[in-house]
Amino acid sequence: VADDGYRLWLKYDRLADAGQCAQYQRAARFVATTGTDPVLRTAAAELQRGLQGLLGQPVPVQASMGALGGGIVLKLDRTAIDASTPNAAEGYRIYSEKNNLVVASPSAAGVLYGAYAVLRRVQTGGALAGWAVRSAPRIGHRMINHWDNPNGTVERGYAGSSIWKWDELPQRLDPRYTDYARANASIGLNGVVINNVNASARYLTPDYLPKVAALAGVMRPYGIRVYLSVFWAAPKVLGGLPTADPLDPAVQRWWAAKTDEIYRAIPDFGGFLVKANSEGEPGPQDYQRTHADGANMLAKALGAHDGVVMWRAFVYKADGSGDRFKEAYQDFQPLDGKFDPKVLVQVKNGPIDFQAREPFHPLFGAMPRTPLVLEVQLTQEYLGFATHAVYLGPLIKECLEADTYAQGPGSTVAKVVDGSLDRHAQTGIAGVANIGSVRNWTGHPLGQANWYAFGRLAWDHTLDPGALATEWARMSLTTNAAAVRSITALLDQSRSIYVRYTTPLGLHHIMGESIHYGPQPWLAKAGRPDWTAVYYHRGDSLGLGFDRTATGSNALALYRPAVQQQWGSAATCPLDYLLWFHHVGWQQPLRTGRTLWNELCYRYYTGADSVAWLQKQWAAARPALDAEVYADVAARLQIQQQEAYWWRDACVLYFQTLARQPVPGPFAPPT
Ligand code: GCU
Repeated sequence: VADDGYRLWLKYDRLADAGQCAQYQRAARFVATTGTDPVLRTAAAELQRGLQGLLGQPVPVQASMGALGGGIVLKLDRTAIDASTPNAAEGYRIYSEKNNLVVASPSAAGVLYGAYAVLRRVQTGGALAGWAVRSAPRIGHRMINHWDNPNGTVERGYAGSSIWKWDELPQRLDPRYTDYARANASIGLNGVVINNVNASARYLTPDYLPKVAALAGVMRPYGIRVYLSVFWAAPKVLGGLPTADPLDPAVQRWWAAKTDEIYRAIPDFGGFLVKANSEGEPGPQDYQRTHADGANMLAKALGAHDGVVMWRAFVYKADGSGDRFKEAYQDFQPLDGKFDPKVLVQVKNGPIDFQAREPFHPLFGAMPRTPLVLEVQLTQEYLGFATHAVYLGPLIKECLEADTYAQGPGSTVAKVVDGSLDRHAQTGIAGVANIGSVRNWTGHPLGQANWYAFGRLAWDHTLDPGALATEWARMSLTTNAAAVRSITALLDQSRSIYVRYTTPLGLHHIMGESIHYGPQPWLAKAGRPDWTAVYYHRGDSLGLGFDRTATGSNALALYRPAVQQQWGSAATCPLDYLLWFHHVGWQQPLRTGRTLWNELCYRYYTGADSVAWLQKQWAAARPALDAEVYADVAARLQIQQQEAYWWRDACVLYFQTLARQPVPGPFAPPT
């Protein structure tokens, strides 16, 4: 049967290795559980389904362990994870006892995560006998953010329309909702914001709340809570109030009543995500109030309900003479300490907007009294949509590992986000979804790896992205070791190759206007000055790059001295960040021995040629791959190759009009 990609990494085909299979068969004769909790029932059902498929034997779910053992026992156990461990409730412990494998957790959700760990273990060939592991998620709110609209479109979505069928809800529950919940739960995600941050007020209406409640009902047995993005001016457009001022008592009453209404429909509702005073959205600043005034008002509306407010820090002004890099910091940093305990501030990984490489956002480490949610983008808005192969594990990891030096060396973004640096109990991470209604969910078959790696890193940010790529490939594509190795190599290198042929040396935001696809470095006029390309690359006859040191915008001053030192001098700044912070002369020699101009050309040329290397890795895996998946990715790689040359030529030729230098080369092809 051809593989259409629908099953993602939850592919439970019979194991090919008969010896290995026999071992697992002896260890997984039954699943035992006594609980009636729906999430616990899910754990048992998922194990049964997965093991029956993988092992080709019946795996009954039963109440008792049986006299012989040789089964998997699911149990609720308050002592399974030490209570002082962050997020202990969702953790699990797996160990052997009386010839059984026990999956124990203080919560049913933890048992479910443990059940998926067992399945992953079998899928990736690890032994069950003698296996012992304890694991708890390092981050509390592990979220997918959908940018889905009521009309079925997905903002920046490249994998078809929205999976939510509003016209069919609440009566018809598309089976895909369940498969979506399974996929998320299997990688440890526990929250879904179902609608776009550019929010329609419609979701808060009595017409839509039952639909949202129906979705929450599908997610609940998988340990997933549903959240809504809210439109700030809802009290006006829905409530008929003359204002949406957060300090107006009528507005406060409206939100409190609306929140109660939501909780009546969805008792475990997760809370609100808010984009306010950003890119034309209304917000508290319309009434001379601050973001904190707005967020705290919603926190008060949540009252005693167990929900949170995730307030986005993605704000900037259309100021051509300012530096967009600094604006979120300037708006939000002074508000540190002013937010209600139910508020988390959600910050994108970098200061501009999901570019192929950005320095970490300067707010990380600068708001110690506020829990900060890290927002990353799984949909490849600036990274080649669903056409280019770009594995995001390394990008996410690069941000998590970046050192803010907020409390001396080792104050990584990961420690800010997981709450360990400033001792926050509320913690969160969000990935903007890359999925849609196409059969294989992500359009590009390799895009599935981004969803997978995000979930796994959200659970444990110390995991290695390369190992996750291997895990994903093995579970999703093939168990052939050599093929998995070349797919892992492809995935591992894909992001740095993409950076080289699109925005090497720290270039950023030089893509096609509004579509955000393909090159347009010459763009000098757009809807806003801070949407053009020339605003960001600052190329002229002398050189290239945005001076963000003290002689320029001084955005660098937003970082701690140790970070400033790292990036502050053009002579020592890592070349990957050079043009983020410095305007460098075309003839300036870099430490590679090449001038800026020659290095730029070198990277564009070798980067574009490296797509052939990606193609080679994919071709090497061919014998072990499903023919349909092979052909799909191979064809996308052909487009990618063509478009890498498009990027290279457009950028080199445009920058050449400024540098007025011959293009050096030819460069040796990458091996
Ligand atoms: C980007 C993206 C928008 C999105 C915005 C956001 O600018 O292009 O479509 O709404 O980010 O994150 O709010």
